[in-house]
Amino acid sequence: MTLNPELQRNESLLEQFKETRKRTLELVKNLESDDFVVQTASYMSPPKWHIGHVSWIYEAIMSKLDKNYEFYSKDFSEYLNSYYQQFGVPHDKALRGITSRPTINEIFQYFNTINQKVEKFIESREFSKEEEKLIVTGFNHECQHQELLVYDLQHLLAEQYLPVRKNKIKVQQHKQKEFVEIKGGIYTMGYNGKNYCYDIELPEHKTYLQNFKMGIFPVTNKEYLEFMNDGGYETYKHWLSDGWEKVKSNKWNAPMYWEKIKDEWYVRDFLGIREINPNEPVCHVSYYEADAYCKWAGKRLPTEAEWEKASCWDEEKQQKTVFPWGDENPTEEKCNLLESYHWGCAEVGAYPKGSSKSGCQQMIGDVWEWTSSEFVGYPGFKSGFDEYNDKWFTNQKVLRGGSFGTPKMSIRGSYRNFFRLDERWLFSGFRCVEDI
Ligand SMILES: [Fe+2]
Repeated sequence: MTLNPELQRNESLLEQFKETRKRTLELVKNLESDDFVVQTASYMSPPKWHIGHVSWIYEAIMSKLDKNYEFYSKDFSEYLNSYYQQFGVPHDKALRGITSRPTINEIFQYFNTINQKVEKFIESREFSKEEEKLIVTGFNHECQHQELLVYDLQHLLAEQYLPVRKNKIKVQQHKQKEFVEIKGGIYTMGYNGKNYCYDIELPEHKTYLQNFKMGIFPVTNKEYLEFMNDGGYETYKHWLSDGWEKVKSNKWNAPMYWEKIKDEWYVRDFLGIREINPNEPVCHVSYYEADAYCKWAGKRLPTEAEWEKASCWDEEKQQKTVFPWGDENPTEEKCNLLESYHWGCAEVGAYPKGSSKSGCQQMIGDVWEWTSSEFVGYPGFKSGFDEYNDKWFTNQKVLRGGSFGTPKMSIRGSYRNFFRLDERWLFSGFRCVEDI
C-alpha cells in the first residue's frame, strides 16, 4: 500500500521533528543538574534556557498557523522568548542565568508536552507548502540552537563536558598547493536546490566578480601564530579602528580559549587542555582578528559571493551545486559536522573527498568562515518569518560553511550565518583571498 502524498509529507515532517528533538536531548544527557542553570557570560545562555526556548518556538509557529492556539504558560513565554517583540516583552538575555524558575524539571516537562502537541498538530492537519516551510523552520531553528548550545557548553565546561558520542578525529594531511584561481564574471548566487532554505538565501541574483585566488584551506594555527609572533596584536596598522579598540579594551593577545603556559600556547576546549595543533584551522577568532591577519599577510577576506562561487560552482558543467562536492547530503567522509562527533576541528587536508569542483577543501564543516560581506537582504528579499532574520540586517558580517558544531541537516553552500564583528565564542575561522 502506498500512502497518499499528503500523509507521506506529514510522516517525513514527524520523522525530522523526532530526530531533531532526540539530538537536543542527547547534547544535555550527561550534564549535572547544576550545569543547566549557570550563565557564564552575557552572550551565552544556560542549557535550561535552550531546552525551553527551542520548544517555545514551536508554540510561536503553531500560534501563527492556528489563530486559536493557546500558549502553555505566560511566565514560560516571557522567560523563553528570545527577542520576538510580537510575542510580548522578552526576558533580559543577560539575566537568563539568575532565575531558578521555571525549574529544570518543569522545563523538561514542558519539552515533553510540546513534543506531544507538535506531533498531534502535524498528524491532524494538512499543510500548504508555505505552512510546511514554517514548521521546517522550527526544526532548523532547533538545529541553530543545538550549535549555540555547543558553543555555550564549551564556554561553561570545555574539557569537563562529557558527550554521549565521541569519535576519533581525522589527522591525515594532504596539503600541497595553497591557492586556487577562480574565474570571475557574472555569478548567480543564492539557493537553487529543491529542499528547505532560509529566506535570506533567496532570491537567486546576479553578481559580478573579478578573477581571484581562493585559499584552498582555512588559515591554520601555525599561520596565525606567525602573525602573533610578528607582533600582530601589538601593531595598530593591521587593524580596523574598531578592532584596535577591542584589542586594547579586551586585552586580546590570542584567539579565545588560548592560554600561555610556560611560554607555550595551549588551548582549553572539548578535547582537553592541549598544546596548539599547528595543522588545525584557527578557531575562535573575531572578524577583526581575521581581517587584521589578512592585512598583515597582504591578502584579504573573501566576499560571500566569492566564497560561494569557490564552494558551489562547477566550471566544467557551468552549474551550481548545493554542496562543494555536488548535491548529495553531507557524510562523515566529506566533512566534519556535529554528527561526526569529533568535538573539534580536523587538520587541514583531512577531507579531500569533500573538495569543491574548484579544489577548495573543508568549505563545509570545521570552522565557520568570516567573509567581508555585510549581512543584508539580497536584492528582492522577502521575509519568511517576522523578526527571525531580517531584523539583524545591521552591524553583522556573514560567515559561511558551518562548523564541527553544525547539525548535518541544517547546512548547505548557500547558508548565511551572521555575527557581530567582535564575537568569537562561536567556532569561527577564515580563509584568505589573493587578488590577481
Ligand atoms: Fe532562537
